[in-house]
Amino acid sequence: MLVLGLETSCDETGVALYDSERGLLADALFSQIDLHRVYGGVVPELASRDHVKRMLPLIRQVLDEACCTPGDIDALAYTAGPGLVGALLVGASCAQALAFAWGVPAVGVHHMEGHLLAPMLEEQPPTFPFVALLVSGGHTQLVRVDGIGRYQLLGESLDDAAGEAFDKTAKLMGLNYPGGPEIARLAEQGSAGRFVFPRPMTDRPGLDFSFSGLKTFALNTWLQCREVGDDLEQARCDIALAFQQAVVETLTIKCRRALKQTGLNSLVIAGGVSANKSLREQLERMLGELNGEVFYARPRFCTDNGAMIAYAGCQRLLAGQHEDLAIKVQARWPMESLPAI
Ligand code: KG4
Ligand code: ZN
Repeated sequence: MLVLGLETSCDETGVALYDSERGLLADALFSQIDLHRVYGGVVPELASRDHVKRMLPLIRQVLDEACCTPGDIDALAYTAGPGLVGALLVGASCAQALAFAWGVPAVGVHHMEGHLLAPMLEEQPPTFPFVALLVSGGHTQLVRVDGIGRYQLLGESLDDAAGEAFDKTAKLMGLNYPGGPEIARLAEQGSAGRFVFPRPMTDRPGLDFSFSGLKTFALNTWLQCREVGDDLEQARCDIALAFQQAVVETLTIKCRRALKQTGLNSLVIAGGVSANKSLREQLERMLGELNGEVFYARPRFCTDNGAMIAYAGCQRLLAGQHEDLAIKVQARWPMESLPAI
């Protein structure tokens, strides 16, 4: 089955062609980062308008790259939520219109299920069951995964998502959006041990997270450095390192706890923050100690992309699921409400 996948939940237009027999045939992405950078974050209306502009040229591009024509496509998959409603509607309308015109089915995909399944596109995919750490700009969740659509939420962030905390901490130090890659880059020049940030909620039982306090801690440290006339370039790097270490260690502690609680030794990390090198290294070390394994997607499939939507959609379409003609999207959508396949 050849599936055309469209992702438009936020500030990236992603398009990909996935074939259930031959794997991923082509994928293309247009990132709106430059468009939103001057505002320090995503402006929803600008995002929707830009998706409209980029979608058809990207579809033509992946069809050309894969030497396919519209007649070869068996179905469409699009992100139906969670995300920005206007942005989601662009992908949903486009997919439904093409599906109607081409006489093929279309399926709406849950964005976080897309992220969760992205490591399945790699050479050595994980096998069920496993624990998944979903860490993106909007979500931080620990999930027990027994199959597609068989999700049990073990814990989640009570306030900021991990990626959001990276973005806000970067912004308060005058760094560019998105902050995750900026913080990771500066942390490499940071001096270890100069600042030590707390590991929120690790001193009590449970698998929930809270990252908003870390951002305040970073702000106070930053203001202090400015007040005493510190070398601000170095202070930025030192704060970036202390912040990143705090997030990574907190996530690692909770992952270890989730693995212990479930009795599993296989961990999947997915979402934008799973591109973070330090997080990957620490989790690999931890899973090494437990004789387990950690799985993640290549960096460009950790952040938003069309390939994960085409893949997840394909699995659901193969199981016989598809939408009717109504164009429906959801800004909020709990992943545990998805049907099992
Ligand atoms: O999954 P994603 O592309 O979009 C959402 O679904 O939210 O995640 C974007 C988030 C942003 O907050 C960004 O700062 C973060 O992922 N991110 C990173 C890294 N690359 C992207 N955070 C830490 N380290 C990175 N290398
Ligand atoms: Zn995402």
